[in-house]
Amino acid sequence: MIKRIGVLTSGGDAPGMNAAIRAIVQAGMNENLQILGIYDGYSGLYKNHIIYLDQHVVSNILNQGGTILGSTRFPEFYKENIRSIAVKNIKKNNIDAIIVIGGNGSYAGAKELTNMGIPCISLPGTIDNDTPGTDYTIGYFTALQTVVDAIDRLRDTSASHHRISIVEIMGKDCGDLTISASIASGCDFFIIPEIPYEKKMLLKKIKNGIKRQKKHAVIAVTEYVCDIIELSKYLEKNTSLETKVTILGHIQRGGRPVVYDRILASQMGAYAIKILLNGYSSRCIGIKNNCIVHHDIEFAMQNMKKTFQRDWFETAQKLY
Ligand code: F6P
Repeated sequence: MIKRIGVLTSGGDAPGMNAAIRAIVQAGMNENLQILGIYDGYSGLYKNHIIYLDQHVVSNILNQGGTILGSTRFPEFYKENIRSIAVKNIKKNNIDAIIVIGGNGSYAGAKELTNMGIPCISLPGTIDNDTPGTDYTIGYFTALQTVVDAIDRLRDTSASHHRISIVEIMGKDCGDLTISASIASGCDFFIIPEIPYEKKMLLKKIKNGIKRQKKHAVIAVTEYVCDIIELSKYLEKNTSLETKVTILGHIQRGGRPVVYDRILASQMGAYAIKILLNGYSSRCIGIKNNCIVHHDIEFAMQNMKKTFQRDWFETAQKLY
């Protein structure tokens, strides 16, 4: 019988996490459940940093970026002795189930907790759009809007000064943000982790532009894929166009969630309460073909890993 639910946000924060927390509290309290907030992700479970949440605490957070519960990366949670302390705290607080909002690392933590007898439901909360079992993650569309706004601005100044702009975009091992931003902002070239790129192809593309009197270019690059400073020097040397590098960094993680993220987070939060009350545990929630769905978390982590969106990639390539 589920009476008390703990909620935590973990890993990199993502716009829409607050909307999900609010939905969990509202939907939970409407079912006469008690909802507890765990501060700073799994580290708060370990440190027993837990508070009561109610409708008052979550009022006016739907449209706020970040997470009111705080978030950390807590690799110590991979250690069984640390998790055992967390489990003791869960029991001490009479918490019957945990809802985790986060990315892949957070899913791994939820899977481990489930294996230790704690019912868990996970919601995909990350700007990277790389968690299993979902088409989209909470925060992805807000980050995408932020990136596109930034590239629009960069294009204005690059075109005015006849410069090349290299813009580094977050995403870890996933090029979704980069590909989508390239499509939405008309980038001249993009470099993503999933597909090796050739420097010479990039140079040829820019030189073709120069032949057509196009003396500026915007190149989108996913973080960690290549050395963008070295790339900028290479392009500058071989095109004679001044080349500037912009690292968008954590700006991409902040800001008010866009409407889609608010709706997705709200739907997923309410759905988490629904499936918990229907007796489910060890599940992760996703959106597939516009429907909110849930999967066994272990199965999803092993068999439903985020796949590369080749059709997006091919479309994006045709547009530059
Ligand atoms: O997972 C979200 C993300 O923003 C990634 O895109 C990025 O690589 C990472 O987190 C940065 O993490 P941190 O904020 O811990 O530096």
